[in-house]
Amino acid sequence: MSVWSSLKFNCGREIANRFVIAPLTTDASREDGTAPDNELEFVRRRAASGFGAVISSAAYVAEDGRSWQGIGAAHEGHLPSLRRLAEAMRAAGGLAILQIYDGGRIAKPELIGEQMMRAPSAVASLRPGARTPRAMTSDEVENLIASFRDAASLARKAGFDGVEIHGANHYAVHQFFSPRANRRDDKWGGTLAKRMNFPLAAAQAVRDALGPKLIAGFRVTPFEVEADGYTLEDAKLLCSELAKLNLDYISVSQDDYRMSRPAPETRVYSGPVERSNTPSESPVTAFARVIAGRSAVMASGGIKTCADAEGAIKLGADLVAVGRAVVVDPEWLSKVRSKSEASILAGLPKEASEIAGALSIPPRMVEYLLSRPGWIPRL
Ligand SMILES: Cc1cc2nc3c(=O)[nH]c(=O)nc-3n(C[C@H](O)[C@H](O)[C@H](O)COP(=O)(O)O)c2cc1C
Repeated sequence: MSVWSSLKFNCGREIANRFVIAPLTTDASREDGTAPDNELEFVRRRAASGFGAVISSAAYVAEDGRSWQGIGAAHEGHLPSLRRLAEAMRAAGGLAILQIYDGGRIAKPELIGEQMMRAPSAVASLRPGARTPRAMTSDEVENLIASFRDAASLARKAGFDGVEIHGANHYAVHQFFSPRANRRDDKWGGTLAKRMNFPLAAAQAVRDALGPKLIAGFRVTPFEVEADGYTLEDAKLLCSELAKLNLDYISVSQDDYRMSRPAPETRVYSGPVERSNTPSESPVTAFARVIAGRSAVMASGGIKTCADAEGAIKLGADLVAVGRAVVVDPEWLSKVRSKSEASILAGLPKEASEIAGALSIPPRMVEYLLSRPGWIPRL
């Protein structure tokens, strides 16, 4: 199967090729959760090179669950900004998908007020300086599911082609699935089946809000690297249950799709990563097998060339999401398509002052990208 071939999702929408822009937070939105022009330009320029779909940066569904100063899909006031974002994402006619999230225990205290940080259980994250959140009441859990549903309704009104639930990278949906973060003993925690209840309820709520004709996707971290975390076997069961809800795709979040290496909760982007729990099987292949064509599978992590994308497809992926390569080179896909890969920019310019203007990256995003050594390659 060619990476340039189209694919029809369960909902009937068609994606023109297998390349998708991965969700990329800019950390450069306004305080009220709207996207300024430079954030829209970052997206528009990259979408213009002809990706089959563009996934937005993660939009918060609740004000008290914000983990950075990003876009919001939390109330009707966000609609005009979401409409402009959907238009920018469609710059070359690709599908526009809104990713939605809640931060849970890794919400940012400066943004939400310390007393309001709430999570599945009162267990602090492993991130340096993390504070202990309070456990959500059952009503709050139900309200958060309703917030995911309402955000999906806003996405529909704003003209998006679909919504992706951010169930990966240690945010709230992931936390409900994790035995490390979720110590509840009600219907939302305890056994593996109960830890699946929140992700499944959020997915069902989003599907209900979107109706059958829009794309509903779910992004998952395939396993936790921490020794007492959930395993690939656990995540396979979750994917199989998600596929029963007629989701259009499951996206596998990895640093490198070949290496089965999800990001640890401590957010160490360089240096050795604990591998104690690394499965021998490729998560992409494992998920493709259990999903068995009921939903499409999207791979991500380390895709820098056409051959990388083809490698992911060989492992069982239907789609590939490209992140850092399009941050660094906005014209990445055009160069891949015209077989001019030798001219692809391999890293951000050495001089920080050259980055924003030349590459259409909002200045605050430049600071964010450079704040974690080893995260984004430099020339
Ligand atoms: C600047 C930046 C922002 C990101 N923001 C998000 C996000 O909002 N949601 C998400 O699911 N992943 C996010 N990611 C992860 C990427 O979507 C992707 O999975 C990861 O970078 C690995 O793919 P790559 O090697 O192609 O970059 C972000 C990555 C980067 C570099």
